[in-house]
Amino acid sequence: MKRNVHSLHLLVVDDDPDFCASLVSLLGSEGHRVDDACDLATARAALSRTTYDALFVDQDLPDGDGTSLIDDDARPEKTEVVIITGHASVHRAVAALHLGAADYLIKPTDPALLKAILTRLSRVRGLQQTVSDLQDDLRAKGRFGPLVGRSSAMQPVFDLIQKVAATDASVLIQGESGTGKELVAQALHQMSARRSGPMVAVNCGAISETLIESELFGHEKGSFTGADRQHRGFFERADGGTLFLDEIGEMPLALQVKLLRVLETGCVERIGGKASIHTDVRVLAATNRDPAEAMADGQLREDLYFRLAVFPMRLPPLRERKGDVALLAQHFLDGHNAANDTDKRWEPGALAALEERPWRGNVRELRNVVQRAYILAEDTLSAEAVAARSGSAPVENGSGGSFTVQVGTSIAHVERQLIEETLKHVDGNKLAAAEILGFSLKTLYNRLNVYAGAPA
Ligand SMILES: Nc1ncnc2c1ncn2[C@@H]1O[C@H](COP(=O)(O)OP(=O)(O)OP(=O)(O)O)[C@@H](O)[C@H]1O
Ligand SMILES: [Mg+2]
Repeated sequence: MKRNVHSLHLLVVDDDPDFCASLVSLLGSEGHRVDDACDLATARAALSRTTYDALFVDQDLPDGDGTSLIDDDARPEKTEVVIITGHASVHRAVAALHLGAADYLIKPTDPALLKAILTRLSRVRGLQQTVSDLQDDLRAKGRFGPLVGRSSAMQPVFDLIQKVAATDASVLIQGESGTGKELVAQALHQMSARRSGPMVAVNCGAISETLIESELFGHEKGSFTGADRQHRGFFERADGGTLFLDEIGEMPLALQVKLLRVLETGCVERIGGKASIHTDVRVLAATNRDPAEAMADGQLREDLYFRLAVFPMRLPPLRERKGDVALLAQHFLDGHNAANDTDKRWEPGALAALEERPWRGNVRELRNVVQRAYILAEDTLSAEAVAARSGSAPVENGSGGSFTVQVGTSIAHVERQLIEETLKHVDGNKLAAAEILGFSLKTLYNRLNVYAGAPA
């Protein structure tokens, strides 16, 4: 093998046995591993067994057009296609470039041109290898895309993201509130070919039951009272990208049936509309409940669960991620320092103090604690500031804050204040707040939704 040339695994697909044999031997003499196939069917079978770096494909094969492999599901995205063509049909090969072929090779083969093609291919592959090496390097340092973490508990999460990001498979992300479910969804989107498309996040628990269907699927003008113009739903808006359905267990059951149908067909119908609109959307979903429990309670339909959870992913709570607390805390502090052009540091012992806490509000709670300590600090973030006012202290023992109510205040206003104060106390952890208040999570979301639309 030549130095500086990345050795490739190649597949030659040509029905002319002499040409095929000579190309295989030429490619082999350049230091590459080469297999061959004489038609499309054999090529597809080979593709299902082996991940090739590139295919050299004749345009006219006994069982069809070789360029069809460019669009074939059997071909992984990173497998390049080089079209083999005769002089007479170069125009077709050029057209194939527009379809995504990497290059074309004219028969009879000019060894110099072939070398040039191989150099280009191996450079690309080498670059991809460098990117993946860099990724491994970053991972060792505790970075994985937008996610920070180095603990062994997070490795299966990173492995799964790496494996499935590039596919269109659905992923159901389960984790306690504040563990980073939405950030994982973003990582999956950013590491996919859809990254240049939209990423649309929908909180199913925060939209009222009456509106959620039209929000998801859209409606035509006049389809119901108040529908004064046509509305494109989240599915249409996420076309070519990723749709993130958060709190999937909060979706009304009747709508779960409709969602399942859309996922199966890829087609949506706007409310009041007749046309079926095809959308190209990858769906990711999240829940902070155990799906098995949600199904047992009748909150989550089993068929929808199986459709969404092609890859189920459990995000571990922060207390299970040994060592990540300090890493995350430093990451958040770095962010504040960079944003404000400061150079505040941790007091010795402060990070160790953070590791000790139970973190019921998970990463979000940690982020808030660091922010508070940063604001309070002159130059040094003290262990005391970090330990003060623990958001995860249980309220039952009376350590919760308090607020004053004036006689003459409406119950509705007091309720709002109580909800807002409770949320503050638990660092925005809605599940914990709902538990303390004795509400369902959905009720809490509905209240917050109302507040969001009304001044305090
Ligand atoms: N591994 C991580 N690295 C860096 N930041 C993180 C990580 N995990 C979470 N965060 C940050 O913590 C906050 C909470 O994360 P996120 O909103 O993704 O959690 P969630 O699981 O969706 O919470 P909820 O169930 O309440 O919706 C965000 O600001 C996010 O950027
Ligand atoms: Mg979330």
